Amino acid sequence: MPKALHLIARPEGEPKDSDFELRPVESRALNDGEARVAVRYVSVDPAMRIWMTEQKSYWPPVKLGEVMRAGGVGEVIESRNPRLPVGTWVGGMTGVAEELITDGRGLRPFDARTLPDPTWALHVFGATGFTAYFGLKEIGQAKAGETVVVSAAAGAVGSTVVQLAKAWGCRVVGIAGGPEKCAYVKDELGADAVVDYKREQIGKALHETCPEGIDVYFDNVGGEILDAVLKRLKLRARIVVCGGISQYNGSGTPFGPSNYLALISARARMEGFVVIDYLHRGEEAITAMAPLVATGKLKGKIDAMEGIDNFAACLRRLLSGRNFGKQVLRM
Ligand SMILES: NC(=O)c1ccc[n+]([C@@H]2O[C@H](COP(=O)([O-])OP(=O)(O)OC[C@H]3O[C@@H](n4cnc5c(N)ncnc54)[C@H](OP(=O)(O)O)[C@@H]3O)[C@@H](O)[C@H]2O)c1
Repeated sequence: MPKALHLIARPEGEPKDSDFELRPVESRALNDGEARVAVRYVSVDPAMRIWMTEQKSYWPPVKLGEVMRAGGVGEVIESRNPRLPVGTWVGGMTGVAEELITDGRGLRPFDARTLPDPTWALHVFGATGFTAYFGLKEIGQAKAGETVVVSAAAGAVGSTVVQLAKAWGCRVVGIAGGPEKCAYVKDELGADAVVDYKREQIGKALHETCPEGIDVYFDNVGGEILDAVLKRLKLRARIVVCGGISQYNGSGTPFGPSNYLALISARARMEGFVVIDYLHRGEEAITAMAPLVATGKLKGKIDAMEGIDNFAACLRRLLSGRNFGKQVLRM
């Protein structure tokens, strides 16, 4: 019997298996206009850790007892909706569930044959890619010749930002944890320089890799790395506040940047954004990125774990940086 994963406790620190419970999904005959979708993959995202708390954000907290919120892709396996014939691939907020009944609202059909893999609708050609594209273009306003620094550069959003910034003619410095990820960012993604924040002193490394300063910082991690970047801003620099994963598992007050006064002398801007504000422009991002994918200038790496009962382990893996590529869970 297909199952869904319900949040039953608010995690303290790392999410635990016992914070969730598997329950059978509703299994009934379809009404007119409905379709049954077998969810094939869900996207495992750092923001899930925030959605599990009581914290107010761009979306309300997942209530205790509710199915855990998640983006996903799946196939229609039974249908009484002429717009969703059997075999149609759909993407949207499926939740962490193996199956669901839908009237189609909130789910977007897509042609999986045009993608390298259906998971790409969650990665480069989905919310991850849109985050990178609109964050860098609209908030970062990155221009050719500028120095762009990206944290979590080997991750899903970060790796896309690195490649887009290179394609747009920027000089790119990627920050990642460990030699394997740093080699990937430099050799595979084409960054001009890399910083291993786990081994190097971040301020010194930024001084060496960005001798003339930083024009755009695409921030995925917050914390001490953000603080170090603030010290090296060029005039009119832009900081894209995309995420702060270094702070998500903490239960206390997040680490705030003590060097924020540097924004004054640099006449710099630090701006948060949420990808959901740009989803209606998804086609624009796909049209811009598709040629880069076709010519091998934009690669996507998927890191898949198996099984709905491994959701909590999969999220722990992501939050501790053990993922290498876009983290998804195969249902
Ligand atoms: N604003 C938006 O609309 C939006 C949308 C999507 C994602 N995001 C944000 O984008 C960021 C990246 O998300 P993603 O899905 O692409 O995940 P990801 O980068 O694929 O995975 C997270 C990575 O973060 C790094 N990390 C974990 N703890 C860290 C720490 N304490 N210090 C530095 N790095 C750490 C790890 O890489 P290392 O091994 O290199 O440490 C890990 O692999 C997250 O902050 C997420 O919340 C924002």
